[in-house]
Amino acid sequence: MKSKKNLVFIGMMGSGKTSIGLLVSKKLKLNFFDIDAEIEKELDMKISKIFQSKGEIFFRKLEEKITLKFLKNENGVFSLGGGAFNNEYIQNEVLKNNLSFWLKWDSKTLINRIKNSEKRPIAFKSTDEELIDLIKKRSNIYAKALYKINCENKTKLEITNKILKIYETYSAESSD
Ligand code: S3P
Repeated sequence: MKSKKNLVFIGMMGSGKTSIGLLVSKKLKLNFFDIDAEIEKELDMKISKIFQSKGEIFFRKLEEKITLKFLKNENGVFSLGGGAFNNEYIQNEVLKNNLSFWLKWDSKTLINRIKNSEKRPIAFKSTDEELIDLIKKRSNIYAKALYKINCENKTKLEITNKILKIYETYSAESSD
């Protein structure tokens, strides 16, 4: 029997929430929602532009509104922005009703992927040291996710299969 629970992917920028989330949603034949993309659609503006012209506080408020709207009203697989789980309302909603997966990588891998990325304003303005610090702080928060997926040295397919296995086990147990 298929579980009715949504799957929510959290983790740092560059952790593969969108690509892995999409692969998982295809395998499970569920809808996929990339919240960053939904934020961009809402304002018809790229995230870097929103940060630049309206500022981070505005972005975080919009992120809260859109993330909660999608989590409460849609079913399927969700990829959240890297900072979304910091928000207590989003965090409570994710932990209350969903299967949450933290895609965990070594800091070095993440920094190599995101540094100087113009489409990621937080990464673009930070030094390596600042990013290491951010990853450490955020890791304490991401660790509240129901499942921690150690991704280092695994392919996208291996990561996807690991998540599918967890989901199948969960579904089998909750249908007993
Ligand atoms: C952010 C991560 C980004 C995006 C915004 C802020 C963050 O999403 O929401 O640039 O604070 O970590 P991704 O994690 O999808 O890159």
